[in-house]
This record gives sequence, structure tokens and C-alpha cells, in this order.
Amino acid sequence: MAKEFAKEDLKKYAAGKRGNYEEALERIVEIPTVSVEPERKEAVRRGAEYAVSLFEAKGAKARLYETKGHPIVYGRFDRSPSLPTVTVYNHLDVQPAEGPDWKTPPFDFVKKGDRYYGRGTTDDKGPAMTALFGALYAWEQEVPINIRFLWEFEEEIGSPHFESTIRQNAKEFATDSVVVSDTVWVSRSRPAQPAGLRGLQGFRFFLQTGETDQHSGTAGGAARNPVTELCQLICDCVDGKTGRIKIPGFYADVVPPSKRDLEDLKNSGFTTREFKRDHLFRSLRVDDPLEIMKRVWMMPTFEVHGLAGGYQGPGVKTIIAPKATAIVSCRLVPNMDPKKIVRLVTDFVKQKNPDVKVDVEHTLPAYQGKTTGPYADAIRASMKFAFGKEPVFVREGGSIGAVLSMEKVFKSPVFFLGLSLPEHGYHAPNENFDWAQAEGGMAAFADYFRRVAEVPREKATAVRK
Ligand code: BES
Ligand code: MN
Ligand code: MN
Repeated sequence: MAKEFAKEDLKKYAAGKRGNYEEALERIVEIPTVSVEPERKEAVRRGAEYAVSLFEAKGAKARLYETKGHPIVYGRFDRSPSLPTVTVYNHLDVQPAEGPDWKTPPFDFVKKGDRYYGRGTTDDKGPAMTALFGALYAWEQEVPINIRFLWEFEEEIGSPHFESTIRQNAKEFATDSVVVSDTVWVSRSRPAQPAGLRGLQGFRFFLQTGETDQHSGTAGGAARNPVTELCQLICDCVDGKTGRIKIPGFYADVVPPSKRDLEDLKNSGFTTREFKRDHLFRSLRVDDPLEIMKRVWMMPTFEVHGLAGGYQGPGVKTIIAPKATAIVSCRLVPNMDPKKIVRLVTDFVKQKNPDVKVDVEHTLPAYQGKTTGPYADAIRASMKFAFGKEPVFVREGGSIGAVLSMEKVFKSPVFFLGLSLPEHGYHAPNENFDWAQAEGGMAAFADYFRRVAEVPREKATAVRK
């Protein structure tokens, strides 16, 4: 095996690069790459162009690939075609950021001690930059491996053009393995190795029963109220208190956790107290930690994200609104077929309220990952090397559309080396990342590349030219 890295050297390396790291993170956080907002199209493009220039400045070859939506950026540190190739996936698009709860402007990069604030700092710009600086170390040390970066700008909208774009470029993008850095630990003292992701099926329910606002005194009692009807429909679908989904057949394909799964959950170090603290919850549907983990990582959900319709201003404006919209999604677990869920939900809505129009939004099946074999072992060893602790096995409750696509198109295994913490606030106001995760993350990535360089190439030659 190639000479092992010394933790001390990586600490020194990270300390020396801290200024460069923060500068790169600042530049990208201050570009508001909100993929869902049409008016940000130019900003997303600027983000992709910055990504290309960053790779080039660091000595990589880089290119922007057009898609039917936002671009994809591919950067390569290539040593030799005869060596194995590892591809690092991150996304540089972010969630919208608005609202009064932000203490500093969301698209200002604000450094407070060792913490970095701003939309995208933890999801997923901070981890992306961390992986890049980890790769630079491995590159400088001449680790015998090609390191490629695949940076997406449409992850937060369900990766609608990702699969077709990587398919069109499958030859150039061929890789022996993929490592994704876009997942969360259980807590700062508990690095995690996810064994899978939940999937997602989005919907919009829309009901229109009139043309304009009408006085509820002159029409109320006889007029249909679309806001009330949508509320009723939602309560027909799901029990608001328990979260139990009432659509017949919804749970039919859910596989109960195995003994091994339950063992992993019990050993994960998850606590209800920290979960509540990190997510600022006042109370939960359940308090038992095992029950919480099962619900978040292994069970499907039916969630209302937003309900729009009617008066939202001060006081009471006594109108009946003409229309209402509910934005809904279901998290899916392995073995659930998103198409079947679409059918169950749309049929159920039709039966309960035939006037409600259902738009079907992004579809991402659940992902079942691998936690055994040389790559998974390398992830664990690198995390232990960098953070002093072996990761615990978890599942992730969130979804990353690109993962299944990469496995399918590249025919290469995908692994997770996440660096985010629950307290960093994925999708929340005051999202942040911190130097400890960046510093350790650089060491973990550098060490992972060194280890992966040693993994025998099994089958990638079939895809590769
Ligand atoms: N990084 C998350 C996925 C994630 C969330 C992993 C929680 C582990 C734990 C990703 O950026 C994300 O937010 N995905 C969206 C996809 C959706 C908008 C199509 C999600 O899960 O809601
Ligand atoms: Mn993410
Ligand atoms: Mn996200």
C-alpha cells in the first residue's frame, strides 16, 4: 500500500489552506444558485462558471455541460488512463432563502469564529469545497488515481436533467466508483455511514370553485370553500396528529426493519434530546428514540409543505377565496414503487374530491446502498483516520436524485462521505457549516482517495474506453 498519510501533515495542510477554502466558499455562497426560482437562472449559470474557473485555477481540466435546465460542471484531475478513477458528486444549487428568521442575509457569507453562515454552506457548497481541497492534497502527494468532480445545479429540484446528461457523456464520465458528500451525521460526535436514502414523490393539489374573492356574509354557507375542502382532503389522506397515512394500500410494500437494521439504529447514538435541540422542535409526535429513527429513516411519509389560498394579511378579511393549492410530497422507502404511489394518491383524491386537480411533481425512488466491500471499508477507515471515530450505520431520511442515476449509467458503486451535522440546518434559516467539519473532511477525503487507489479495478474497464 502507498505510504500512509500522517494526520499531523493533513492538519498542517488544512491550516495552510484555510484562507483559500474560505475564499472559495465565500465566492460560491454569495452567488444565489437557487435552482427552483426562474429569476435566478443567470445566477445559477454564474455559479457554474465560477465552478469551472475554480477547477482551472486549481490545475484541473473543467467543462460546463449544458442541459435542458441548469448546467452541470465536470472537473478532472487526471493522472493516467491506466489508473482507477473516482468521481466525487456534490450539488451547488441551493434551496430558496427568505423570511424573517435569517439573522444575517442568506446570500452573504458570514464568518463567526469557526462557523460559516449562509444559504448552501452545509447543503452542499461547504462539503463540495472540502472534497476539492482534500483532492488537492492527494493530487499534490501524487496518489495514483484520477479524481473527477461532478457538480450538479439541479439537485434541489429533483435532478430532472441529470440522468440524460450523464448518459450522453457516459464515455467521458466513466468511473470505477462514486463518492457522494451530501448527507448528515447523527451528531458531531457520531460520524455516519448511510446505508440508503428515502425517495420522494411530489404533488400539487389545486382546487378552484369560483373566480374572485366573495363576501362570506353574502355567500358563506352556500359557497364552496376551496381552502376548507383542501384541508378536509388532506385530513382524509393523513392523520395530522400521528402522521399515519390513511390512503388504502399506501404501506403495502414497506419492508419492516430487519434485526440487523434495528441493531444499527440502537448503536447509532441518536438521542431525542439532541434531535429536538438541533432542529429547534418544541415537541414531537413520539419521543422514543428508536421510534423516531424508524419514522425518519425507514418509513414513508405524507407531508404538506405549504397551503396557499385566501387571505394572509393582518386582522380578519371576511372573504371566501376562489381557489387553493396544497404542496405535498411523500417520502418513499426501499421496495416502494413511486408509480404505484402516484396512482394510489391520484385515485384517492379523485374519489374524495373529484374537482381537485393533481399535478405530479418530481419522482425519486428510494436508494438502498452498500456498507460492505472495499470502498465502504475505505470510507469507514478514512473517517476514523480524520475524525478519530468509526462512523455508525444509519439510513438517511432525505433524497438525492443523482445517486440512482449515477449507479445506473456508470454501472459503478456509489458511497457516501457526508460532512453535515443536524445543527447546521439543512434547508433552514441560518444554515451554517464549520471549520472542524471542513478540516476533518479534507483529511477524510484525502485519505479516502489514497485508499481507493489501492482497490482492485473490478469491472469498470467494460464501461471505460
Ligand atoms: N442533501 C439533501 C438530501 C439529504 C437530506 C440527505 C437529509 C440526507 C439527509 C438534498 O440536498 C435534498 O435536500 N434533497 C431534496 C430533494 C428534493 C427537493 C427533490 C430532498 O430530500 O427533499
Ligand atoms: Mn444536499
Ligand atoms: Mn437540500
